[in-house]
Amino acid sequence: MSPRPDNGRVIPLPLLPHHSANRSSVTCKYRCGNACAHEAPNTSDNAYFGDIAESVLSRRKALKASGVVALAVGGAAALTSTAAAVPAPLRGQGRSSIPGTDFAPVAPNTEDAVVTAEGYEQGVVIRWGDPVVPGAPEFDFNNQTAAAQEQQFGYNNDFAELIPLDGTGNRNLLVVNHEYTTETHMFAGYDENNPTEEQVRIAWAAHGLSVVYVERENNGGLKPVPSQYNRRITLNTPFEVRGPAAGSDFLKTSADPTGTKVLGTQNNCAGSKTPWGTILSGEENFNQYFANADSITDPTAKQRLARYGLKGTTSTRKWEKFDKRWDLAQEPNEANRFGWIVEIDPHDPNSTPVKHTALGRFKHEGAAVKVADDGRVVAYSGDDERFDYIYKFVSNGKMKSGNSAYARRQNMTLLDDGTLYVAKFTGNSPASEIDGTGKLPADGAFDGTGEWIPLASGDKSFVPGFTAEEVYVFTRLAADAVGATKMDRPEDIEPNPVNGRIYCALTNNSNRGSTGNAAPDEANPRVGNKHGHVIEIDDDATGTTLRWNLLLVCGDPNDPGTYFGGFDKSQVSPISCPDNVAFDRHGNLWISTDGNALKSNDGLFAVPVDGPERGHVKQFLTVPHGAETCGPVVRDTLVTVSVQHPGELDGASADQPASHWPDGGNSQPRPSVVAVWRKDGGEIGRR
Ligand code: FEO
Ligand code: CA
Ligand code: CA
Repeated sequence: MSPRPDNGRVIPLPLLPHHSANRSSVTCKYRCGNACAHEAPNTSDNAYFGDIAESVLSRRKALKASGVVALAVGGAAALTSTAAAVPAPLRGQGRSSIPGTDFAPVAPNTEDAVVTAEGYEQGVVIRWGDPVVPGAPEFDFNNQTAAAQEQQFGYNNDFAELIPLDGTGNRNLLVVNHEYTTETHMFAGYDENNPTEEQVRIAWAAHGLSVVYVERENNGGLKPVPSQYNRRITLNTPFEVRGPAAGSDFLKTSADPTGTKVLGTQNNCAGSKTPWGTILSGEENFNQYFANADSITDPTAKQRLARYGLKGTTSTRKWEKFDKRWDLAQEPNEANRFGWIVEIDPHDPNSTPVKHTALGRFKHEGAAVKVADDGRVVAYSGDDERFDYIYKFVSNGKMKSGNSAYARRQNMTLLDDGTLYVAKFTGNSPASEIDGTGKLPADGAFDGTGEWIPLASGDKSFVPGFTAEEVYVFTRLAADAVGATKMDRPEDIEPNPVNGRIYCALTNNSNRGSTGNAAPDEANPRVGNKHGHVIEIDDDATGTTLRWNLLLVCGDPNDPGTYFGGFDKSQVSPISCPDNVAFDRHGNLWISTDGNALKSNDGLFAVPVDGPERGHVKQFLTVPHGAETCGPVVRDTLVTVSVQHPGELDGASADQPASHWPDGGNSQPRPSVVAVWRKDGGEIGRR
């Protein structure tokens, strides 16, 4: 990419060392077990658009005859926005007429710093190792212990949420996921082949979640305060397994013959706050922690392991040396106890967190809930792997109002009982017009209709050849069997609280269209999709039909294969590899990125989704080099982001740190949550 002028400055973009398309080899190895270096685990011959065009057309005719299409079109008239309909934006310095997005965009850069829009201030809220539980010791990098880590902020913060404790906005619970550990950056002199038991136990304690009471400071930032709410959840914390697969033989181990109690949660990636005040969090790349999948010989068991990327002999972190539960040869079912959506009640530090089997088992990025008009709740979730699927769960029960402990307890059972679906997306343009470059089809939009295919409800399976239990525990295989649409890594998927539509980030898929892999289709229209896209879904919440369109086809706006909601591409910020999504109170979409393939640092972007500036993407901040922007929270006068894996560049380690963020000097980099506010205390995105 050539240097881009932005804000009147021209910033050269030096090449960073990269492993696969856009992440360092150390991030690929420790974050997702080098998933991108392997063939995607979805080898099902599940049909793609080229094969099904005829049947789609016949089905569309059938739908039209039944009136379903006409109804859906009427409900989604606002979905398509063309360039012709967009008036010129306010010119200069990224001016915007849309509340919440009027700030001067940050230019792409590779600085070892958080860079915010002009006029904004920043401060670290909490770092890896900072005390969480009252009485926790201060962090000491060179003398870290598992006992200390159990009480301190975990590693590699990802999803974050601020739960207000009152109406002032000043008292909040900050809830944060700790997705994975990078031992080469956590321990000086780390020997990958011979980790010590203490290092392994520190890693167990550095996973999970933190709940931290935070107060707004006078200067605008957030400060952690010792509190009875503060809590660490780690790989040692007991969880209750609930829903239709609780107690299944597939979940039983020698340590838990009931199949209902699991120690810990791991690879917690994205998440959300439920409308009843709890937190949902997704267990994502759990497969990389388990050793000796190759010792399993039973063909059915082998196929199930392979579909979840469980393979090989020793694991990267060698945990199997210190607890047999990580050894599939000794505990073949332990891996079935991860890959779930978990729910915690941050208001009650003594509550037992829950694993919800009714939402299926896959590499859950996260889950987010929308309340349907009739009070039932709908949880959307993406399976973050190349060629995997988008799911939703519709509860049978209805949400109880109020935020009492009783209501929360009752509402925490909503996700135990309902129907699990997987999505199938159908384009409305001829397949011949989807040429793999990102060029828009003749109707001017990547768009179409879709359906939710039921997989199971309670103990009833809708998938031939699968029991309900098998659907929940081996959900990927069940979804293969019903012809779900293979997507380009579905990450965060969340409902917009203002317009009600659902937005899903599809990060990238370098294998799209390559030999032996699914061809581009209208919902995933680019071959070797390096930069990802964002799909907007108008969903019949509790029903089975939907309409969709691609809001963004990401990348360098100078690339003709990109699309920014029909907005003038000369006015937008480059964006690559969308990952997490959030909304401000105006309904603007905020997107954080993971692995910018344009060779600049990851960032946080704001984009209006309705009105004349739909698609006007602007970069609000960037994170230090080697880092990923995660877990954005956008409030009226405050933005927070998780800065994950700062300094994770090829060749870097604790012995040779490539970043000194956030503490500067010769310090070790520390994953941290950062708060950003306007210097004058005013509203975010207003000038
Ligand atoms: Fe952990 Fe899908 O990112
Ligand atoms: Ca179309
Ligand atoms: Ca993510």
